[in-house]
Amino acid sequence: MNQEEQLNVVAEEEGDASNEGRVPPFQTPKGVHDILPIDHDFFTFIKKVVRHRCRQAGYKRITTPMFEFTEVFKRSIGDTSDIVSKEMYTFQDRKGRSLTLKPEATAAIVRSYIQNNMSQLPQPVELYYIEPNFRYDRPQAGRYRQFWQFGFEVIGESDPALDAQAILLAQRIFGDLGIADSLKLQINNIGDMASRAVYAEALKDYYCGKERYLSEEDRGRLLKNPLRLLDSKHEDTIILNQSAPKFKDYISKESQEFHDEVLEYLTDLGIGYTENPTLVRGLDYYNQTVFEFWDEKKGAQNSVGGGGRYDGLTELLGGQPTPAIGFAMGMERVIAQMKRNKVRVPSKDDLHVFVAQLGREAKKICLPLIDQLRENGIKTMGALGKGAFKNQLKIADKFKVPYCVLIGLTEVREKTAIIRNMKVGTQVTVPFSKVVEEVVKRIGKENLDVYDPKDPI
Ligand code: HAM
Repeated sequence: MNQEEQLNVVAEEEGDASNEGRVPPFQTPKGVHDILPIDHDFFTFIKKVVRHRCRQAGYKRITTPMFEFTEVFKRSIGDTSDIVSKEMYTFQDRKGRSLTLKPEATAAIVRSYIQNNMSQLPQPVELYYIEPNFRYDRPQAGRYRQFWQFGFEVIGESDPALDAQAILLAQRIFGDLGIADSLKLQINNIGDMASRAVYAEALKDYYCGKERYLSEEDRGRLLKNPLRLLDSKHEDTIILNQSAPKFKDYISKESQEFHDEVLEYLTDLGIGYTENPTLVRGLDYYNQTVFEFWDEKKGAQNSVGGGGRYDGLTELLGGQPTPAIGFAMGMERVIAQMKRNKVRVPSKDDLHVFVAQLGREAKKICLPLIDQLRENGIKTMGALGKGAFKNQLKIADKFKVPYCVLIGLTEVREKTAIIRNMKVGTQVTVPFSKVVEEVVKRIGKENLDVYDPKDPI
């Protein structure tokens, strides 16, 4: 796994050092990882960006359960898809019911749309989510067994302008995250059910007699879902695909017009795209527009995000026919892309002050002082263990605090405190009652971290 893309690189390095080369007895299972503080900065930043963009566009957040009845995913994503056929974490509960950890959110959200009568709300219903998904995928760089997705769904309307708008929202988010320029939009129209069925027959005819060139996996696809051959990773199939019938010869007039209109809007919005006739996506619920964002240098293997229209899914899950479109991006892949692009995440986590003390009386004074500093918006840490001043200052240095407040035996007696500027090494003694005021002066009011519970969420 590429170091840059590996999320728990710091933990592993630190683990190695502290365990002196010994393998710790317990490790995460293959394909899953801890999200360490260093990467939480990225996660928090992404959440902030997507919340902002979604709020601007009127989306509301939704969270569906971590697991659903297996049938929800089987019916939506399709029996022959990789996800359903080999990647689901499926288990039985104590009453023998088959449940599955969510491998993606769209099916669950459509289930929720139907279950909660959302068709009664003004349409379209615009929802977004940030949550973990589970797929028994083959772990490699950017491919995990638990990964996080941000995604959104627009349910209840069909119009090429909505497709363009969904793509624009994704593009704006990538822009805010500093990765839009390194991603290229791939787009295709896979038509309606009827034209896809005719095309699937044409593909079957073309491959009839060529089965011996296909891998076992692709032979299975030919039998069950020939369209998936188009996105095969097997070399022989890729070569055969070049001369296979093209969908553009089978697409209905309506779908072609729909597609042309989407492309026209994208052009008007200044969004560059590559038309990709082999883009079919790995989930069966799509129709018409499908799209993905690829890192130009990495191609399909590492699609950072993708989505499309799924006008038939609501009906498939037992609701009224309801058109919809959506998109999801893998947060780990976004973070890897941000790291490759050397995007720096603004963090508010840096501490302002470290409080060091010596002696029990000093400690007694420091406890309420630390609380007061924090109440005033000063991000404060105190090492209240034993340890000489020198050692405490060493710790303060490691936390890179700009200021230290020191209270020892003399300061307790004289009711004072020392404020030390850690960068230049100068220090002043101030009356204890003035410590907060003096620290605020140095930090600057504009940099204080004051939380007002009345602030809008
Ligand atoms: P998907 O293409 O299966 O689509 O997944 C969306 C994104 O999730 C991918 O582009 C990728 O960034 C990330 N992803 C997928 N699998 C993994 C993995 N094993 N490890 C890390 N990241 C991964 C969907 O899930 C659809 N529900 C998207 C959608 C929403 N379509 C309509 N609405």
